[in-house]
Amino acid sequence: MKRVFSGVQPTGNIHIGNYLGALKQFVELQDENQCIYCIVDLHSITVPQDPRELRKHILDVAALYMAVGIDPEKSIIFVQSDVSGHAELSWILTCNSYTGELSRMTQFKDKSKGRESAPAGLFTYPILMAADILLYDSDIVPVGNDQKQHIELCRDIAIRVNNTVKKTFVVPEGRFLKAGARIMALDDPSSKMSKSAENIHSRISLLDDDGKIKKSIMRATTDSEGEIRFDPEAKPGISNLMNIYSAFSGESLEDIQTSYSGKGYGDFKKDLVGIVQEAMAPIKKNFNEIRETQELKDILTLGAEKAGAIAEKTMKRVKENFGLGF
Ligand code: AMP
Ligand code: TRP
Repeated sequence: MKRVFSGVQPTGNIHIGNYLGALKQFVELQDENQCIYCIVDLHSITVPQDPRELRKHILDVAALYMAVGIDPEKSIIFVQSDVSGHAELSWILTCNSYTGELSRMTQFKDKSKGRESAPAGLFTYPILMAADILLYDSDIVPVGNDQKQHIELCRDIAIRVNNTVKKTFVVPEGRFLKAGARIMALDDPSSKMSKSAENIHSRISLLDDDGKIKKSIMRATTDSEGEIRFDPEAKPGISNLMNIYSAFSGESLEDIQTSYSGKGYGDFKKDLVGIVQEAMAPIKKNFNEIRETQELKDILTLGAEKAGAIAEKTMKRVKENFGLGF
């Protein structure tokens, strides 16, 4: 059995990009692997958070994990700050990372753009992510495309420690889906769909009601050509919508193109609205049932115990190999 690890930040507005790039894979993987799914609250404080909102969002993500189909009987669900090994290992890995490689991370460059000085946590963020993964001897890390560079860095750090200190870490592999790995913003298909964009119609959040879903899709940016053809370079708007259609329906892009030949964007968008509404309905229903239960907190407490037991073993090995303690 392979070990799977991934995480989502509790920053609100979890959207269909998060779902199609990451959460959908989490569910698919849980029958054949030992899966650990984390709510990475320590990552979210790299930018300022309102403490009350943060706590709310942590429980929201936990409930969403279960609402999309992650089964706590099969997978471990827990909150990152409940297991101290993440921060501890992160420091040890920081001492085995280079400022040069961290400065090359595109996410850091984007997030620190235009600032004279950025929070140091934004800079070392990928090291904490590497610690998350390596702490559990993870083999597979299901994520969206935007995390590719961070996974590469994690592999580099693991290989470096294995070669220069002692063989300590499993070198993990990223897992990316073809159709959902990079969902673009509906109002601007040149940037990825994000939780923090100001325009709410740039994304479809998993808890959006049917009216909002319809509005966001019907006003999504396309082009003036009117032909439903997959061409991300020349026709990024409609290509993004086709990707979303394909990821939700399971139909190939070729089949979608064929069945909409001669039809207009209006018809296509209307059908897409139905597909997305149908996919979101059970998630919303499950979420509302789970979110307010005491069971949710119990699951996180138990998850932290299980994750903590694995982490403790790894930390013992790490400290021994590095000569820390006595
Ligand atoms: P985050 O919200 O940054 O914690 O991301 C959670 C997961 O969703 C990560 O695996 C991301 O790679 C993935 N993700 C975020 N935005 C998108 C997007 N627009 N398209 C596909 N996957 C995404
Ligand atoms: N950095 C990831 C993101 O922003 C979230 C994350 C943190 C993660 N730790 C992880 C993903 C470990 C996979 C594995 O999307």
